[in-house]
Amino acid sequence: MTGVPQAARQRLFTAVDPPLAVREDLAAWAKAQRGGVRGVRLIAPANIHLTMAFLGERSAGEMPAILEAMARAAQFCGGEPALQVAAPILLPPRSPRVLAAGVADRNGALTRLHKELTSALGEQIDYSERRAFRPHLTLARLARDAKLPAELSPLRADEFICDELVLYRSYLEPSGARYEALERVALN
Ligand code: 2AM
Repeated sequence: MTGVPQAARQRLFTAVDPPLAVREDLAAWAKAQRGGVRGVRLIAPANIHLTMAFLGERSAGEMPAILEAMARAAQFCGGEPALQVAAPILLPPRSPRVLAAGVADRNGALTRLHKELTSALGEQIDYSERRAFRPHLTLARLARDAKLPAELSPLRADEFICDELVLYRSYLEPSGARYEALERVALN
């Protein structure tokens, strides 16, 4: 058989992280929405992130190209994204599996970062994206039969700056995904 053995591959994604205080607020909000509803798995504050590109399983040999793409995107995105928590969203809307907070891109830097990153990854590691970029922070994962209240309470519209793009490794474990930050690239 050709190719890299499965054990040598790493499940990777890139993200920007809100400050911990914002993540803690969001986690508390999600916990309050859950109430007594079953089948709602809350995401711990430390694991809340805004995914910029999900890279899937990658080999160690691809790492330099991924880092090069991240550096290039950071260089051309025009500074730190100024963001704001927006309305709650359920994804996908028809049969939701995720409860998330929408995120508004106040200075356009997040959209530029995403555009530069996907184009650099496309050149470096043949990356392409299937879904449209919809900035969000996943706060809970929902079982198929989980019934959240029809009316979610509003989120506090916290404003924050993201100053780095992070490369994460994801470990899929029975208790849920665990994330490890492998590299950080400054956005200023
Ligand atoms: P989500 O927040 O919309 O669930 C790590 O798995 C991160 O990558 C998750 O936060 C998830 O975004 C995102 N992601 C995007 N595409 C994915 C995919 N096909 N499989 C798993 N995670 C994906």
